[in-house]
Amino acid sequence: MASDQRLAVYPGSFDPLTNGHVDIIARGARLFDRVVVAILLNPGKQPLFSVEERITIVREVFKDTPNVEVDTFSGLLVEYAKRRQANVIVRGLRAVADFEYELQMALMNRHLSADLETVFMMPAEQYTYVSSRLIKEIAALGGSLTGLVPESVEARLQRRRHMPAVKSV
Ligand code: PNS
Repeated sequence: MASDQRLAVYPGSFDPLTNGHVDIIARGARLFDRVVVAILLNPGKQPLFSVEERITIVREVFKDTPNVEVDTFSGLLVEYAKRRQANVIVRGLRAVADFEYELQMALMNRHLSADLETVFMMPAEQYTYVSSRLIKEIAALGGSLTGLVPESVEARLQRRRHMPAVKSV
């Protein structure tokens, strides 16, 4: 990518992608030349969706937005951003509750890499209470997710709910 181009990395677990994430990615795509949705490979966590599924979901949702791409990373985010020659890390800020954790991460990342800037973006109001954690809980308990996640995520969650549980012996 040419050095005058603004490349933003939007890192996260995206397990699953919510409409809050979609809103932030769309805003980022309008602000920056390119947005890389960077899915953390975290061997310490047992995700609901495999990395491959999460990649497919982002690709499906942003198939008509050519300046959004999806990638995976492991290790330090600042090292990944450096490899990608990104100028910016994008994070969404929903409510005050997010602030402390996000401030700590942003300042630590700045300590590690002074020329990488974290840009916070607020999602549309209707997504300020949406989180992947709550989405998984509502899905497991059979609640409606309409309007909270992309349709492909909703369909995948529904399919999972109707799959017979694996019995442990
Ligand atoms: O969606 P999440 O789980 O809130 O995203 C957290 C993420 C992936 C942004 C954060 O855990 C991260 O950057 N992990 C990579 C390891 C790293 O760089 N840690 C130091 C952060 S200050």
